[in-house]
Amino acid sequence: MENLWLAVGGRVMQKEITILAIESSCDETAAAVVRNGREVLSNVIYSQIDLHTLYGGVVPEIASRKHIEKVNQVIEEALRQSGRKLEEMEAIAVTYGPGLVGALLVGVSVAKAISFATKIPLVGVHHIEGHISANYIENKELEPPFICLVVSGGHTHLVKVADYGKYEILGRTRDDAAGEAFDKVARAIGLGYPGGPKIDKVSREGNPEAIHFPRAKVDENLYDFSFSGLKSAVLNYINSAEMKGETISVPDVAASFQQAVVDVLVEHSMEAVRRNGLKKFAIAGGVASNSALREAMRTACVQNGIEFYHPSPILCTDNAAMIGAAGYYDYCNGIRSDYYLNAVPNLKLGER
Ligand code: KG4
Ligand code: ZN
Repeated sequence: MENLWLAVGGRVMQKEITILAIESSCDETAAAVVRNGREVLSNVIYSQIDLHTLYGGVVPEIASRKHIEKVNQVIEEALRQSGRKLEEMEAIAVTYGPGLVGALLVGVSVAKAISFATKIPLVGVHHIEGHISANYIENKELEPPFICLVVSGGHTHLVKVADYGKYEILGRTRDDAAGEAFDKVARAIGLGYPGGPKIDKVSREGNPEAIHFPRAKVDENLYDFSFSGLKSAVLNYINSAEMKGETISVPDVAASFQQAVVDVLVEHSMEAVRRNGLKKFAIAGGVASNSALREAMRTACVQNGIEFYHPSPILCTDNAAMIGAAGYYDYCNGIRSDYYLNAVPNLKLGER
């Protein structure tokens, strides 16, 4: 890490590093100002969800156009709410992948333009690294190494966070991401988009043991996940009920599906923490705001004597504060991006 300490009036003080962060990888246009990686001075999110609900999912072209329309406003508002001026920023952090290419390009282009005009250094940030780093914001004591389960609409990764910016992927999904499974099942049972929060809500009225859906294991890797079989099992259950002229209980199907996802996520995560000899575990990503998952993880961690960390729901789903947190540690690790920074839709964690 670079020297972040300053001699001020005979005292050694931590240098203040304030970062303007921008996120536009999917359907949230977001900007935030973050101080020293852990203190959020502002966190502005313009969600396009209502716009995409009409189509039952994110429409990439619409997302890009809306980002263009909103991005400057969101950045200005983030600076205004933070009480800081653009010139006071030490770096501009921006998500450059993974995500939708057109959507990513909006944030990347704006960040490059601001950096070019102001000469403030530019730091390209990995979106998943952002999700993981959301845990640093409200848990000031959390430091690597720890295991993190990243569960979002596009990703399901079990990651060993060896150090700031150093990741080892232990397991990943072989097919659908956990959030994707939530969204697809929600659509099938008529709950609409976005499925995760709707299944979470309706499940509270259902019985998680009403229907036994499969808990898939992947033979070659203990930590890998597979959700497509579960999704098919739910679809088969609905179709066979329809053919028999029976009506399904939406809360029971939702709760039983959710329980199947939660069981697998908890089992694999606890196995990873145990086998790696670690005592800290965190969750991240949109699905990490799921109430049943949080509760089950909390219980499992208590039983196993593991410290459990999770961001508030607003920091689980896409936001720029998490990019400011990740960007801070990247910046301190000496990472700088040049004006050739491009959007990388399938950027791998740990790659640059
Ligand atoms: O992290 P995120 O905002 O975007 C991606 O990077 O993908 O995650 C969005 C995903 C969606 O699939 C959404 O249905 C899911 O997170 N999600 C939830 C909940 N809130 C959002 N899934 C389950 N329960 C929730 N409460
Ligand atoms: Zn995300």
